[in-house]
Amino acid sequence: MNVDGTPYRTIWLAEDGWAVEIIDQTRLPHEFIVARLETVEDAIVAIRDMLVRGAPLIGATAAYGMALAMRADPSDAGFASARQRLFDARPTAVNLRWALDEMAIVVNSASEDARCAAVYARAADISDEDVGICSSIGDHGATLIKAAWENKGQNDPVNILTHCNAGWLATVDWGTAIAPIYKAHDAGIPVHVWVDETRPRNQGASLTAWELLQHGVPHTLIVDNAGGHIMQHGMVDMCITGTDRTTRCGDVCNKIGTYLKALAAHDNGVPFYVGLPGPTIDWTLRDGVAEIPIEEREAGEVTHMTGRTGNGDIAEICLTADGVNAANFAFDVTPARLVTGLITERGVCAASEQGLSALYPDRAQERETA
Ligand code: MRU
Repeated sequence: MNVDGTPYRTIWLAEDGWAVEIIDQTRLPHEFIVARLETVEDAIVAIRDMLVRGAPLIGATAAYGMALAMRADPSDAGFASARQRLFDARPTAVNLRWALDEMAIVVNSASEDARCAAVYARAADISDEDVGICSSIGDHGATLIKAAWENKGQNDPVNILTHCNAGWLATVDWGTAIAPIYKAHDAGIPVHVWVDETRPRNQGASLTAWELLQHGVPHTLIVDNAGGHIMQHGMVDMCITGTDRTTRCGDVCNKIGTYLKALAAHDNGVPFYVGLPGPTIDWTLRDGVAEIPIEEREAGEVTHMTGRTGNGDIAEICLTADGVNAANFAFDVTPARLVTGLITERGVCAASEQGLSALYPDRAQERETA
């Protein structure tokens, strides 16, 4: 997508052909900074400290992180160590594990001499594949938005509520939940997006709103707690969110607060859709609430906030009295029964084992661990 008119992806190879460059998302929306990753450790820090975030982009960064690792040490021991350390960088997005499994296939079928080049090539493919996948999610989701517009009588925009950032910044390009919005907007369908600020890290306020602004999509930022109210008053036609991990039965694990939006949508008869690429499905799990480990991050993300002050400086402020105890659950699980449909690159399906297996018969054979 474009930043001030220049097309960007979120991750790419540097001009030297081996280092990896990313957009440092901790600096947006106030500064657009490109960061350079030269070692697997740099990639681990970028994932852990959320310079990159969003399930598909975490997967692509892990893939390139493995390429950097193989450049330094292509031995079996080097691969095993890098795989474990990358895996431990963040726990929820299953795309991370998927990308590392893809790398294992490449590494196991190449000699030590050939590994580095093969892993770089697979990382580039994973990035390109993600762009194609997200573009297709956009096409399938845009048909839902078009249908909602036609149902409304075509005079008003389709009002879509989204949570966190599942736009192009969360992927290599296009996004998952936001891709249908870009496609609909580009096709001339009037859309308006309600953007949840998404405490504590404010991915909605600082990333989604910035993306939509760059692309010229009408939007309004709201506090996280406003969703129920605007749904009660008929101001939301549909919700579309992303997911970091979806079980084979259609339970969806996404940014904390997604579940509350799904409950409010259910209570108000508002369709609740989730956009996801195939690699976000965890075929080993059934019950998301019981089985998906939820990342708990440091309490400082709840007690403090970073933003731009009146004189233009970027500063961190403390919201609480010293000594206040805070907990920071980063994700929650929305049960499949609250999800109207899953928007994938292969089409839209019911949030159920039947729905997913019909779209992914090739992957549904994967074994459950339970
Ligand atoms: O903690 P984050 O910012 O990595 O969380 C991201 C989300 O929750 C997104 O909605 C999810 O990764 C789907 S993005 C395509």
